[in-house]
Amino acid sequence: MSTNWWHDAVIYQVYLRSFADANGDGIGDLAGLTSRLDHLERLGVDAIWLNPCYVSPQRDHGYDIADYCAIDPSYGTAEDLKALVADAHSRGIRVLMDMVANHCSDQHQWFLDAIASAPGSAARDRFLFRDGRGVDGELPPNNWQSVFGGAAWTRVDDGQWYFHAFDASQPDFNWRNRDVVEYFDGVLRFWFDRGVDGFRIDVAHGLFKDSAMPDALGDGHNYAMWDQPEVHEIYRRWRAIGTEYEPQRYFVGEIWVPTIEAMAQYLLADELHQAFTFDLLVQPWEATRMAAAIDRALVQAERVGGPPAWTLSNHDVHRPATRFGQEQHLDAPLPTDMIAAARRRGDADLALGVRRAKAATMLQLALPGTVYLYQGEELGLPEVFDLPDEAREDPIWLRSNGEELGRDGCRVPLPWDAASPTFGFSPPSSTSAPWLPQPQWFADYAANTQDLSDDSTLAVFRRAIAGKRDTFSGPDIDWLASGHPSLLAFRRGSGICAVNFGDSPVDVPREWNADAVLGSEHIGDGSVIPANSAVWLTVVRDDARTTVGSDGTSPAGLTSTTTGIHGPTGPQSHMRSNDAPQFT
Ligand code: BGC
Repeated sequence: MSTNWWHDAVIYQVYLRSFADANGDGIGDLAGLTSRLDHLERLGVDAIWLNPCYVSPQRDHGYDIADYCAIDPSYGTAEDLKALVADAHSRGIRVLMDMVANHCSDQHQWFLDAIASAPGSAARDRFLFRDGRGVDGELPPNNWQSVFGGAAWTRVDDGQWYFHAFDASQPDFNWRNRDVVEYFDGVLRFWFDRGVDGFRIDVAHGLFKDSAMPDALGDGHNYAMWDQPEVHEIYRRWRAIGTEYEPQRYFVGEIWVPTIEAMAQYLLADELHQAFTFDLLVQPWEATRMAAAIDRALVQAERVGGPPAWTLSNHDVHRPATRFGQEQHLDAPLPTDMIAAARRRGDADLALGVRRAKAATMLQLALPGTVYLYQGEELGLPEVFDLPDEAREDPIWLRSNGEELGRDGCRVPLPWDAASPTFGFSPPSSTSAPWLPQPQWFADYAANTQDLSDDSTLAVFRRAIAGKRDTFSGPDIDWLASGHPSLLAFRRGSGICAVNFGDSPVDVPREWNADAVLGSEHIGDGSVIPANSAVWLTVVRDDARTTVGSDGTSPAGLTSTTTGIHGPTGPQSHMRSNDAPQFT
C-alpha cells in the first residue's frame, strides 16, 4: 500500500446514523455498516469516512461529543469498531474518522466541570467564558453570530457567558489552553492505535478565535472568528503525530477561508494532506463556472504540491440530484454564505437532476485528485423535501424556527431493498421506525433494484470508479476547446473527459482521434455526447497532444491550456488568486 494512497482515491462518506441499522432500533450502526461492506467493495471505494460516532447526546448528531474515546451505544461498541476496521482493511478499504476539535458537547465532563466551577477557574479556562456587557452583564460579550443562527453566546447561572460557534449545546474549546492541546494529542493516538487510517477535521479553520474577540463589522465574513494563525501550530503537531505511525495517518480538513493563499497555509508539507474543494460543490450546472472552479483548485494544488479533494455532496448540503434539477442560479454565491448556494428550496426536475449528477460525478472522477462521495449519491438519491416538520431534528431548522430547512433531507436512511419495510434499512423484525421517515418514493432508488440494471445510476458509478485509473493518468489536464460553449472537455493522460452542459447533443470532435469508452448515458456508436451527460474517451492516435502549437492552438483549431499539479501553462496561469470565491 503506497503512502500516498489518497492521491487518486475514491472515499465514501458514511453518515452512520442513516446507512444501515443492524439492531433494529431505527438508527444506523457500526454492525450495519460492516454488514454492507460488500456494497462498498463492489462500488470500488478505497476508503470510508465515518461521521462522528463517539458518545454524544446527538443534539447535532455526533458533532457534539461527550466522550471522544468511546463509541456511542446507539452506534455500537468498541468491539464493533474493531470488527469494522478489520473487515474493511481485509478488503483494502481504509477507515477515516471525524475529529471534532472546535467544540464538544455541553455534556462533556470538562464542560460540566466548568459550569460547576467559578468564573476565572482553570476549569472555565478550557472554554471561552467571558463576562457580558451592559449594566449587569446582561448583554453578550460581543455581537458574534452562531453559524446555525442566533447569538453565539449563552449565559450560565452565575451570569458569565460561554461562546459556541454552532449550537448552544456545542461549547467551543479554548485552544490557547494547553490542557486542550494535549487532550487532543491523546485522542488522535487513541484512535490511531486502533488502526484508524486518518481523520476528517471538522471546521478545521475554526479552533482559534482572535483573543480580543472584537465585534464583527457588518454582516460579512467575521475574520476574528476563523482562520487565526495559531491554528497552524496544531496541524503541524497533528501531522507529526500521524507520521509516528506506519503507514502514516492522513488528514483532510473542512476549511472555509477567503483566498487560495489562506487555504495553502493549511496544506503545507507539514500540515494537512488535503482540504475539500467546496468551490466545485457550490457551482451551478454551467460549463465555464465549473471549469473556473476546477482551474482554481488545480492552481491551488500546484502551489501545495498535492492533489485536490473533490466533492459534490456531503451531510451538510442538499443532494446533487436535486440541486442540478432545480433552477440554476448563475450569480456568484453570496460571500457571506457560500453553503446556502447548495441548500436552496425549489422544485426540481429529478430526471434531469440525476442525469446531470451522474455526469458531474464522471467529471470529478476524471480529474487528478481524490474524490469524496456521500452515501446515497451512487443511487442518485434526491433531497427529501417532504419531511414532516415534527420529524426534523437539525439544529439549523430548530434555531431558524423553520425558516431554513437545514440538513435532515440529505440524511434520510438509505433504501437498500425496494420491497421490504424500511426499504431494508432496519431488519424486517424491527419495531422502531427509522429515525427520519423514508418517503414511499425511496423505493424507486433502492440499491437492490439498481443492482439488477446495467443502466442504473449505481451501475454508472461502478463502471466509472472501476475505469477511472485505466482511462486517466497524470497530475495535469489539458483543456480542449470544441467550439461549443456548453461543452467542457479536457485531456488527462490518454483519456478525454467531455461533459455536455447543454440540452442538445454535441458531436464528438473528430480532431480528438478518440474512441468513447464510457458514458453517463447511452453513447450508441460513440459519435455524440448526449445532452446533460458526460463521456469518457481514449485517444487512439496521439495527434491531439502532439499538434498543440506553442500558442496553445492546434492546427485543427483546438486550443489547449494545461493546468495541474505541475503548474498552469495557459491563460489560466495569469489567474489572480483573489478570483477565488469568498468563503465564510
Ligand atoms: C459539520 C456539520 C456540523 C458542524 C458543527 C460542520 O461543518 O460538517 O455537520 O454541524 O460542523 O460541528
